[in-house]
Amino acid sequence: MNSAHPIPPARFDLLARILHWTMAALIVAMLFLGAALVGSLGNYHRALVLHESVGVAVLVLALIRIVNRLRRTAPPQIPAISRPERIVATGSEVLMYALFTAQPIVGWALVSASGAPIRVFGGVLLPAIAPANAHLYHLLRDVHTFLAFGLLAVFTAHMCAVLAHSLVLRDQVLNRMLRTPRFRRTSTEPAPGHPLQAPVPTPPDS
Ligand code: HEM
Repeated sequence: MNSAHPIPPARFDLLARILHWTMAALIVAMLFLGAALVGSLGNYHRALVLHESVGVAVLVLALIRIVNRLRRTAPPQIPAISRPERIVATGSEVLMYALFTAQPIVGWALVSASGAPIRVFGGVLLPAIAPANAHLYHLLRDVHTFLAFGLLAVFTAHMCAVLAHSLVLRDQVLNRMLRTPRFRRTSTEPAPGHPLQAPVPTPPDS
């Protein structure tokens, strides 16, 4: 291998892959938890505390992810992806990062505007980031709902694109975000011991 021009990795780095799947799970959970929160009759306070804590965790992970994405080069796109598709993919990626960051900040600001204290992770008191104000609260509450629908729409489009690539086009797009398949055989030769494999000659008895 030429050390001056190393072959770029075909997959995102390990941290990017861990953050991607962790955040995907947390954000889906948060969309359900938020909707459940609004419609809940009992356990409202407990659900809100959980929603706030997981939301702040999403914010921290989103910031780590943005820094990691800026510091590490993404693997090259597979050749089957056309230029217009690359532009759409990059645009949706930027939009997702913006939503991942904006939604928790708006949530934090709306609780601040309500005048209620924000305690996360069982006791950490966060400072207010907006003045207590009823009008501001209602405005931010509407923005939080709007961004939640935005997240749901972008998330659904992202899932549909990945499913189309994996199930219809059957290309390698999803593999860029999966762990390295250590046990996958790349050779077309039959595995050792396979009936099609020539028998290994046994050494004559001494
Ligand atoms: C990725 C992060 C987040 C997502 C996806 C999310 C999602 C949602 C959703 C879907 C709703 C229901 C909206 C509606 O039906 O109108 C909601 C409500 C709410 N969220 Fe979030 N949220 C996030 C972060 C946060 C954070 C960090 C806080 C506060 C620190 C927060 C505080 C609230 C509050 C107070 C409500 C309203 C509950 C009510 O009206 O009873 N959210 N959220």
